[in-house]
Amino acid sequence: MDRRGPEVLKTMRALVLGLVCYVTWPDSTEAQFPRVCSTVEGIVSKQCCPALGSDPANVCGLLSGRGNCSDIRVSTKPWGGPYKLRNVDDRERWPTKFFNQTCRCSGNFGGFDCGQCKFGWTGPNCDVHKSPVVRKNIHSLTPAELQEFLDVLDLAKNTTHPDYVIATQHWLALLGPNGTQPQFSNISIYDFFAWQHYYSVRDTLLGPGRPFKAIDFSHKGPAFVTWHRYHLLSLERDLQRLTGNENFAVPYWNFATGQTECDVCTDDLLVGHNPDDSSLISNQSRFSHWGVVCDSLDEYNRLVTLCNGTSEGRIRRGQMGGARTNMSLPTMNDVRSCLNLRDFDNAPYYTNSTFSFRNALEGYDKPDGEAELDSTVNNLHNLVHSFLSGTSARSHSAANDPIFLVIHAFTDAIFDEWMRKSVPTNSSFPDEMAPIGHNRHYNMVPFFPPVTNEEIYVASDQLGYSYAIELDATDGGIVFVLGSSLGGVFLGGLVLLLVLVLYLQQCRKHSFEPLIKAEFTNKKYTEEA
Ligand SMILES: *[C@@H]1O[C@H](CO)[C@@H](O)[C@H](O)[C@H]1NC(C)=O
Ligand SMILES: *[C@@H]1O[C@H](CO)[C@@H](O)[C@H](O)[C@H]1NC(C)=O
Ligand SMILES: *[C@@H]1O[C@H](CO)[C@@H](O)[C@H](O)[C@H]1NC(C)=O
Ligand SMILES: *[C@@H]1O[C@H](CO)[C@@H](O)[C@H](O)[C@H]1NC(C)=O
Ligand SMILES: *[C@@H]1O[C@H](CO)[C@@H](O)[C@H](O)[C@H]1NC(C)=O
Ligand SMILES: *[C@@H]1O[C@H](CO)[C@@H](O)[C@H](O)[C@H]1NC(C)=O
Ligand SMILES: *[C@@H]1O[C@H](CO)[C@@H](O)[C@H](O)[C@H]1NC(C)=O
Ligand SMILES: *[C@@H]1O[C@H](CO)[C@@H](O)[C@H](O)[C@H]1NC(C)=O
Ligand SMILES: *[C@@H]1O[C@H](CO)[C@@H](O)[C@H](O)[C@H]1NC(C)=O
Ligand SMILES: *[C@@H]1O[C@H](CO)[C@@H](O)[C@H](O)[C@H]1NC(C)=O
Repeated sequence: MDRRGPEVLKTMRALVLGLVCYVTWPDSTEAQFPRVCSTVEGIVSKQCCPALGSDPANVCGLLSGRGNCSDIRVSTKPWGGPYKLRNVDDRERWPTKFFNQTCRCSGNFGGFDCGQCKFGWTGPNCDVHKSPVVRKNIHSLTPAELQEFLDVLDLAKNTTHPDYVIATQHWLALLGPNGTQPQFSNISIYDFFAWQHYYSVRDTLLGPGRPFKAIDFSHKGPAFVTWHRYHLLSLERDLQRLTGNENFAVPYWNFATGQTECDVCTDDLLVGHNPDDSSLISNQSRFSHWGVVCDSLDEYNRLVTLCNGTSEGRIRRGQMGGARTNMSLPTMNDVRSCLNLRDFDNAPYYTNSTFSFRNALEGYDKPDGEAELDSTVNNLHNLVHSFLSGTSARSHSAANDPIFLVIHAFTDAIFDEWMRKSVPTNSSFPDEMAPIGHNRHYNMVPFFPPVTNEEIYVASDQLGYSYAIELDATDGGIVFVLGSSLGGVFLGGLVLLLVLVLYLQQCRKHSFEPLIKAEFTNKKYTEEA
């Protein structure tokens, strides 16, 4: 934590030193792409249009009318937010730094070779609506369903991703020292999921030890909800293929218990903590041996490299709730408050947006969206990550902990409830001046083939899943919430303050970085840049 100051200064100096540096130190360009396109020809031609099946002429399933090879379209609308550099980060205009042509699938066909159906469709011709799979409360799963969920996670951790690889070298060395050896690596299905999250939040690399940190393609903006929805949906589909059960659904954890204990943190579910080392998970669980990937952000920044998917130690969780911190999870009143916000998001579409459903749900604002002068506010989604501490509280490695799935399934359930209540138009999602990656027509980084935020800003049943959940409050319920909370505001403020102080103390002890810590750094960047 204390090294952060000098880091900021170094980057400031880099900015001042001028454009030459940007040109001589382009960003690393590690990325995820279909294995079949990660070849010398693929990278040189910037074309990823594989043949479907064995006939090489059947590019993108052209011969069966499934699709054709087309130029990739990218949004040219201006973005806002703290990232003000241009042509420095390879995730700008995603994915055109790597590929400028890909399969465009017709009808409801989908996938990088048009060999699959779009989400929500099924059948040999992808013309049958898939009856939505049902995401249930993890506590309501039958023993067999729970077993299936835990088993498939373990299997995904050990099974190489069938279609995608990650690159392991800087863009300039992407084809190896003599330009003939593509530097890509296989990765397991679960680690691929963790890697995608890391890649979307990682820093821009301006040179050795000179990261630019005020950039995030999946948090602190409207894409928070769409990005995490697509991320989970893609993993869910990979898990369906792995189990052969196309009705498999990821469960959710209703974290809005207001409790100081985590009721899924038991060895039967998503792991209790280790009595001998309070920063580790229990060693009695199937997840105890899981290695984390992509955790060494500072090292990647120092070496101007990116995560290569190797194991870097074990999952960590802080001493949570109860004894040491007295921190408590969000409440159902918090959930109802954010559901009552009418606007999806508001300018500047960032962490200081007020009366923004997205910002309240993400947790940078109070649940009711009223401006919070204290920039350390930490609610709903963010609060859960901070509460768990450890791996979960570091945004670049949070997805390593399988509890991430059930947290984000519930966060998405709240978003889905809001969608059904509000029936928003597309234009409620900003198409310009959101931070980079967060405009409506931006292709979400690092998904491939490209998919925009807008395509995912639809009700979940259109994407082939639904939630077994009841979140909407009756009018009476809302009145009750308001009435009862008036008296509790003062007390609530005191509790929040106490929680924050205790939490910050705990952070210092464990030197864990909460999700919102990066935000503090960003503000400094922005103020001084
Ligand atoms: C796509 O990239 C290739 C290879 O760099 C280049 O020759 C071609 O002009 C590009 N096409 C477009 C439409 O940018
Ligand atoms: C590709 O397919 C789209 C429809 O999916 C069509 O509009 C377009 O003309 C096709 N392009 C080529 C080059 O065939
Ligand atoms: C995955 O691999 C680890 C060791 O690498 C092993 O302990 C575990 O049992 C394996 N799980 C499965 C489902 O194969
Ligand atoms: C490329 O370099 C590798 C060693 O790094 C060598 O084995 C290979 O023969 C080289 N290929 C060409 C075409 O020079
Ligand atoms: C990944 O694994 C597949 C088969 O399991 C193999 O054919 C391929 O060469 C591997 N790719 C890389 C980049 O290691
Ligand atoms: C697991 O933890 C227990 C106590 O918490 C300890 O006695 C045991 O040796 C540990 N087992 C392993 C394999 O680390
Ligand atoms: C992968 O990354 C780790 C950590 O940055 C590094 O120690 C290791 O040497 C790398 N492995 C390869 C094969 O490059
Ligand atoms: C946590 O709360 C309990 C009961 O309110 C109290 O007894 C205990 O001292 C608190 N712990 C800390 C560390 O503040
Ligand atoms: C929001 O934060 C950004 C970046 O820190 C700042 O430039 C902007 O003025 C703030 N806007 C409001 C309305 O507070
Ligand atoms: C809204 O977005 C969806 C998903 O991309 C699209 O199908 C629909 O046509 C859009 N509606 C309007 C009015 O632009």
